[in-house]
Amino acid sequence: MPDSIPAIGFGFWKVAREKAADIAYEAIAAGYRHLDCAADYGNEAEVGEGIARAIADGLVTREDLWITSKLWNTFHAPEHVEEGCRKSLADLGLDYLDLYLVHFPIALEYLPIDARYPPEWIHDPSASNPSMKRARVPLHRTWGAMEELVGKGLVRRIGVCNYNSGLLHDLMSYAQIGPYALQIEAHPYLVQPKLIRLARDYGLEVTAFSPLGALSYVELDMAGKSDSVLTEPVVQQAASAHGKSPAQIVLRWGVQRGTSIIPKTSKPERMRENLDLFDFELSADEMDAISALDQGRRFNDPGVFTEAAFGTFHPIYD
Ligand SMILES: NC(=O)c1ccc[n+]([C@@H]2O[C@H](COP(=O)([O-])OP(=O)(O)OC[C@H]3O[C@@H](n4cnc5c(N)ncnc54)[C@H](OP(=O)(O)O)[C@@H]3O)[C@@H](O)[C@H]2O)c1
Repeated sequence: MPDSIPAIGFGFWKVAREKAADIAYEAIAAGYRHLDCAADYGNEAEVGEGIARAIADGLVTREDLWITSKLWNTFHAPEHVEEGCRKSLADLGLDYLDLYLVHFPIALEYLPIDARYPPEWIHDPSASNPSMKRARVPLHRTWGAMEELVGKGLVRRIGVCNYNSGLLHDLMSYAQIGPYALQIEAHPYLVQPKLIRLARDYGLEVTAFSPLGALSYVELDMAGKSDSVLTEPVVQQAASAHGKSPAQIVLRWGVQRGTSIIPKTSKPERMRENLDLFDFELSADEMDAISALDQGRRFNDPGVFTEAAFGTFHPIYD
């Protein structure tokens, strides 16, 4: 049983529902043991199918796997946290999660599961001006209910995503059960050294999402192909020097700096490529040169996408 978060996991955001069962199965067959899921990805039932098939075929046991899921924004009220968690468990076909994360420090008005699931961001898509509807739920109350999930055995560990250092200090001031992990956007254009250092000082594991940078955001028109870090000369040079692909250099940088990473791909050959990071090491100079690409460039920024896509200006980092 993994007793700490595996260095490389597989991310399921934007994995098409009709392909998610096969992709989950193939990812496990390729060697992934950490699957990064979320209610909001809309594919947990299918991921669960793939997990069940992999277990039934004898590829792995449940205990070999590390399954992460995330509490959606509309389930922040303490009376809805367990409901959100149980829905993810039921969809994934599991009786416990290895890690359950608060997806965003954003509380939205509750929507019953049978009204719409996943509830996404907009409260009423049929309204004349569709928008988000904020809920007055303090994060400490959500955390208290997350702690109860641990007590009930539904989740082994709890943590948070998309918290900045101020929210992390605050969380550490009231947590009875400390967060196991902080999951944040991190790649060579958004290195986040202070936040990662602080999380480590508090004893948290740090997981980097979107570890390949812009690539995930091109299909959403939130980045252009020219924003890719893979074409940076230092990345290309390291790739030639080590006989690896530019993606492997960027992912290796993530692992070597001590963050776990959760790259997503829908291509089986890339699944193997993204796992194959342990037969080489970047030199200190290469690590420094890649870190020096930092532009503080965030692609997943609610201060931008909530207004553009959901009719509501809701920054959290500014
Ligand atoms: N907590 C949060 O708020 C949050 C936010 C965002 C993401 N996440 C999690 O983090 C995971 C990873 O982040 P992400 O999906 O945004 O981005 P990512 O894994 O950094 O990048 C995925 C993109 O890179 C491409 N790609 C994958 N491997 C490649 C390779 N070896 N060479 C070239 N291109 C490659 C993929 O295309 P193909 O599919 O065509 O291969 C896809 O377009 C998500 O799936 C999700 O689980 C969490």
